[in-house]
Amino acid sequence: MTSKIFKTALPDLPLSEKLLYTGYLLTIGLGLLMAGAQILLTHGMADGKLGLSVDDIVYSYHGNRKGTTLEAKLNGSMKNNAPAPVRLEIIKWARKGAPESEWNDKIKPYFERYCVMCHNAQSALPDFTKLENIQKQAQPDQGVSFTALTRVSHIHLFGISFIFMLMGLIFVRAVGIPEIIKGLLLITPFAFLILDVISWWLTKIWPGFAWVTIIGGFGYTLASTYMLFTSLYQMWFLKSDSER
Ligand code: HEC
Repeated sequence: MTSKIFKTALPDLPLSEKLLYTGYLLTIGLGLLMAGAQILLTHGMADGKLGLSVDDIVYSYHGNRKGTTLEAKLNGSMKNNAPAPVRLEIIKWARKGAPESEWNDKIKPYFERYCVMCHNAQSALPDFTKLENIQKQAQPDQGVSFTALTRVSHIHLFGISFIFMLMGLIFVRAVGIPEIIKGLLLITPFAFLILDVISWWLTKIWPGFAWVTIIGGFGYTLASTYMLFTSLYQMWFLKSDSER
């Protein structure tokens, strides 16, 4: 059953409208895949290992407060830039709070040999020829800042709800799905989207909430994938009313 406004069911739509919706749904589908890949490559790498885990979420939002950014990087994306014993020395020094007393004789030569060819005043990276810039990286890793979190949260809520709305306006014309189930499917992505964003804030404060982020992401991905495929299927493979 479809409502008065959306009274034309998916299989009965004129060709032009089917093509319009199909173009949109395919583009959104590709977008979903890209979003998945991006999550794996950014958050997924937060703990230094490929693949998304609860630790990744904790490190991204709450930070790794036992360690410092310097340590996290030396065990993560900077791992190949210095041999293990050198990395260990730098990490030990960072854990002590990066004291100046050990800088000149001991630590500075390491940075000169292994780091400053990339991290210097000419590069866009933090300039490691200056001790103070290294000390900033040796602060406990606090994860994402509240400022960044508000920015990402509102972009996410506005942007993604728009996608779900348009997708919903197409799926609402589906046939053969009980009204209550259809309604639940339509509201699910929004519910999980809100849950997802709330979970970032909770994880920022209490790392124990990281798993809610994963559930939220899975929830709306599943619901929207189902609606996407059902809509495409009904438009192109279900017989229209006149033939039914
Ligand atoms: C081959 C060039 C290169 C070398 C050598 C290098 N880095 Fe980096 N470093 C980068 C790039 C590119 C980034 C930014 C991408 C990233 O964070 O992985 C970065 C980022 C970092 C960051 C994070 C900066 C931030 O603001 O988030 C730290 C800390 C760091 N490097 C430490 C080191 C240390 C310590 C060494 C020496 C053992 C080192 N790097 C050697 C290229 C290099």
